[in-house]
Amino acid sequence: MKVLNYGSLNIDNVYSVDHFVRSGETMSSIQMEIFPGGKGLNQSIALAKSGVQVWHAGAVGKSDGDFLLELMENVGVHIELISKLPVKTGHAIIQRNRKGQNCILLFGGANQQVTREQVDKVMEQFSEGDFLILQNEISEIGYIIEKAHEKKMKIVLNPSPMDEKIFTYPLRYVDYFILNEIEAKDLCGQDGTGEELLERVSAKFPSAKVVLTLGEDGSFYKDGNMIIHQSVFKVDTVDTTAAGDTFTGYLIGGLVQGETPKIAMENASKAAAIAVSRSGAAPSIPYRSELDAQ
Ligand code: RIB
Repeated sequence: MKVLNYGSLNIDNVYSVDHFVRSGETMSSIQMEIFPGGKGLNQSIALAKSGVQVWHAGAVGKSDGDFLLELMENVGVHIELISKLPVKTGHAIIQRNRKGQNCILLFGGANQQVTREQVDKVMEQFSEGDFLILQNEISEIGYIIEKAHEKKMKIVLNPSPMDEKIFTYPLRYVDYFILNEIEAKDLCGQDGTGEELLERVSAKFPSAKVVLTLGEDGSFYKDGNMIIHQSVFKVDTVDTTAAGDTFTGYLIGGLVQGETPKIAMENASKAAAIAVSRSGAAPSIPYRSELDAQ
């Protein structure tokens, strides 16, 4: 069984700030750092560090994306399905406040240049039973889902960042949804407590497994009538960027390696806690050996 992550690769420009800049305000930042990032790249790195062989597909700019590819290759991600295009690599402008919280502005760049032609070529490498992992930062996601369904791949969707395009995708083919509270609300079109949202998303997509992350309130995994709740591991928060990506990579990585959902959820939660205690997106993601100390 192979694992394909078709997702974004970004250069994260991270500005440490006292508070998030307000409308009409001009403000100096305290520090500026550049990190590898992108929800796709972060999740591939988490998958690889969890111990899974992962193929990443997507696109970077010819002139500025090489360091992202090198980083992925160094942790064992297969990068041969990533195109190098004559455009800019995607980037993010991230404000990180004193509490380690962030707000993120994206420029899609090469991530939005994924074409059906590229998708067709990539999909030739995968077959029935292989996993496909998707976020919502590249073009042609609906088409990728259609093609993966035709191949009978297992489809994991983390619809982040949430926008109206999500509703144009063939969501009925998704096998696993990995959602935060806002995404769950948008997906089921209703408000509610964590448990209510879990039920509602699950009622809308009865054949899918639903994973709901609720920050300090932990996370839920629901498969039919089976529900698991996982608490968070408490740490001092330095930077929450990529915590969700680390969780997703470790959860799917664990399931692919035969862990029970309960163990995979526990390890995903541990890995996310470690990521929160460190600075940056991709560089904050721990190796599996580091989870034991948690
Ligand atoms: O989830 C964190 C990521 O979101 C950042 O690395 C940034 O690039 C955006 O894609």
